[in-house]
Amino acid sequence: MKRSVLSRSVADTLWIGQKLGEGTFPGAVLALWGGLGAGKTALTRGIAQGMGIMLPVSSPTFTLVHQMPGPRILYHMDLYRLQDAEEALMAGLAEMWDGDGVTVIEWPARAQEVIPDARLDITLEFGAEGERLVTLESRSSEYDRLVEDIYENSSH
Ligand SMILES: Nc1ncnc2c1ncn2[C@@H]1O[C@H](COP(=O)(O)OP(=O)(O)OP(=O)(O)O)[C@@H](O)[C@H]1O
Ligand SMILES: [Mg+2]
Repeated sequence: MKRSVLSRSVADTLWIGQKLGEGTFPGAVLALWGGLGAGKTALTRGIAQGMGIMLPVSSPTFTLVHQMPGPRILYHMDLYRLQDAEEALMAGLAEMWDGDGVTVIEWPARAQEVIPDARLDITLEFGAEGERLVTLESRSSEYDRLVEDIYENSSH
């Protein structure tokens, strides 16, 4: 299932993230696609909030992954500086996304061959000033309800 919604502001993106966070389940994997400054980290901030995590979300660019404790653990990955998929496996990332936590991946392209197929792809595209087109595509039916719920409750 694939649906696009319009975010008119950071607040809208946070809201989408919050809905995603509320709807996550053990082992959920969310891959965030989009260029520099598209809003991937902003969306992750909302996801953390929706999961009941009170810690601030920052960019893990230099650490590959921030592990955030909460009712359910959130692995916030940023693979911008990753060399290749092999490095992702060497760093033990597979143990994280194969586990019971929730994994959010910024810059997933570098690890495309190894990230789980059963995931929710989220693409952020630049629109007019302050706007982003957010496309949610479930690669596994377990995400369909979440996609539908966000679509039905937002502008499109
Ligand atoms: N509708 C919107 N949704 C999200 N961010 C927006 C929106 N409009 C403007 N912005 C701005 O875009 C920037 C998004 O930054 P953010 O760090 O989330 O991007 P990113 O995709 O994580 O970038 P990077 O690839 O560098 O990690 C912020 O400065 C934010 O204020
Ligand atoms: Mg970021």
